[in-house]
Amino acid sequence: MFFSEPIATSESELKLLQTLIYQECGMYFDERRSHFLQDRLQRRLRACNMTSFYDYYRLLTSREGRGELSALLENLTVNETSFFRNRPQLDLFQKTVLEEMLHRKQARRDWTIRVWSAGCSTGQEPYTLAMLMADALAYYYLRNPLPYPMPTPKPLIPQPWRVEILASDINYSVLRAAQEGIYNEHHMESVDYAFRLRYFDKVGEGRYAIKPALKELVHFDFHNLKTEYLPPRNDFIFCRNVMIYFDEAEQKRLIHKFWRCLNADGFLFVGHAESLFGLTEEYRMIHLNSGTAYARIED
Ligand SMILES: C[S@@+](CC[C@H](N)C(=O)[O-])C[C@H]1O[C@@H](n2cnc3c(N)ncnc32)[C@H](O)[C@@H]1O
Repeated sequence: MFFSEPIATSESELKLLQTLIYQECGMYFDERRSHFLQDRLQRRLRACNMTSFYDYYRLLTSREGRGELSALLENLTVNETSFFRNRPQLDLFQKTVLEEMLHRKQARRDWTIRVWSAGCSTGQEPYTLAMLMADALAYYYLRNPLPYPMPTPKPLIPQPWRVEILASDINYSVLRAAQEGIYNEHHMESVDYAFRLRYFDKVGEGRYAIKPALKELVHFDFHNLKTEYLPPRNDFIFCRNVMIYFDEAEQKRLIHKFWRCLNADGFLFVGHAESLFGLTEEYRMIHLNSGTAYARIED
């Protein structure tokens, strides 16, 4: 058997696989992306030493095949990401939306800020949010001094505030890389010097590790956005460049699930090429200096 030869798969077989993937994780492979699906399927067939699509499909749908199903999904996800992606949106988050949230929370003595990076890939998004939040709190206390002396050394997050960032993905490999938190020179291109100095340790030639104090703010976990139970009580949800791979029905379901997972005055941030327009009436769009966010509307 020559495994370099592609294993023939018919259109109806591909359709079967497409449906299974959609049911499992919401990713939708229409005709434009069927070439990619076909390519990844061939890779997995070779990796499993299989020559029949139906044997492979039976494996995927069996209890013993859960591991292979995860491996297939990992091969299908697009994990492109970067630090400080979509700067105008992050400015809107840090300088306007978060700032107002801090005032509101302080007034009601609620000191916990909960953020969820849903589809975090290799961690650049949640670590960016951690840096922005640490800086926002430091700046907030320059203008609104604490009623007691700041302990030394200065903590990253001044008490009594607590910052909890949950970062989740469906892909275990990217979660492992994110948890490790080590980035190369190429990853660091969008990180300016001030951030590098404050939040990274150089750990080798062209290798930078997230400082432990920043890392402590982020908790990584597996979550499949297709499932019904998703992490509740978030002030902010960032789900950027994930829904773009879902079809409209799945996008609508997810946007409503996010609504349930947000606190009453919470916000949803989606990717630059994504929009909630025509998909929901449950959010109000905020657009400022090219940055967009969606405020949850109460029932
Ligand atoms: C293009 S990356 C976006 C990373 C980051 N949010 C950003 O904007 O830079 C999309 C991520 O979504 C994840 N993903 C895709 N489908 C998912 C699902 N059903 N549940 C959870 N994560 C999913 C992928 O594994 C991938 O890491």
